[in-house]
Amino acid sequence: MHGLEGKKVLVTGASGGIGAAIVRDLVAAGADVVAHGRTAESLQALVDETGATPVHFDVSVEDEVKGALQGLDVWGVVNCAGFGGEIASPMDTDMAIFDQVMAVNARGTMLVTKYASQSMVRLGQGGSIVNVSSQASLIALPSHISYGASKAAVDSITRVSALELGPHGIRVNSVHPTVVMTEMSAFYWGRPEIAGPFLDQMPLGRWATQEEVSAPVIFLLGAGASMITGAHLPIDGGYTCR
Ligand SMILES: NC(=O)c1ccc[n+]([C@@H]2O[C@H](COP(=O)([O-])OP(=O)(O)OC[C@H]3O[C@@H](n4cnc5c(N)ncnc54)[C@H](OP(=O)(O)O)[C@@H]3O)[C@@H](O)[C@H]2O)c1
Repeated sequence: MHGLEGKKVLVTGASGGIGAAIVRDLVAAGADVVAHGRTAESLQALVDETGATPVHFDVSVEDEVKGALQGLDVWGVVNCAGFGGEIASPMDTDMAIFDQVMAVNARGTMLVTKYASQSMVRLGQGGSIVNVSSQASLIALPSHISYGASKAAVDSITRVSALELGPHGIRVNSVHPTVVMTEMSAFYWGRPEIAGPFLDQMPLGRWATQEEVSAPVIFLLGAGASMITGAHLPIDGGYTCR
């Protein structure tokens, strides 16, 4: 149905909530899934459950990404590894945390795209990349200055990559989820005084599930999106349509 049968797809951040849901859906779609996490321990349960092939590296370290990706020869990538950073205003941002958020979200997406696309172009079989961005790159969210900036950088990586990889038959798109109640988001969005006013502004008025993020990722990755590249798809219950 998605044309992903037998296609080798790397999912970074598969040890996290959204990444694991994407791995499950890709395995169900018949893809040959390579699941990434920083450690073997954090991936073991998912590997046991799905049969995905594990791979380990820090997305922000070039030698590690290069070593892991060279010879892996993937057809597709979901860049899902991410770091939420801190809740801070422009006046009190901790620059060490800003650098770390940029290193994981922007540099990490760039490095994986760099080494995956090198082999995709060499193999000459086209391919597809989906970057997991955020609603925070589409609009200004209070206290999300570092995270929003890092995901805006991801969006630029998506567009320029779409431009340059399109002639090789490689599509590059992004999804922009609203909050999914994972560990990354609960400490802030779980607070009633933050959640209430936000959900009041959202047409669908509820948080997304991991599966509701995964399904559009699978769509963009697969054959149903064969004429879509350079697109930014909100998964935000309509929050950014205002
Ligand atoms: N949850 C939300 O509300 C939400 C909303 C919009 C967008 N997103 C985005 O969705 C993606 C997944 O989020 P999630 O909620 O599933 O988060 P999560 O459960 O915290 O998972 C984050 C993943 O990224 C990995 N990671 C973090 N730093 C890394 C590094 N330096 N090198 C390699 N891997 C690293 C983590 O690996 P370890 O297990 O080794 O730590 C984990 O697999 C992220 O890009 C996030 O920005 C999330």
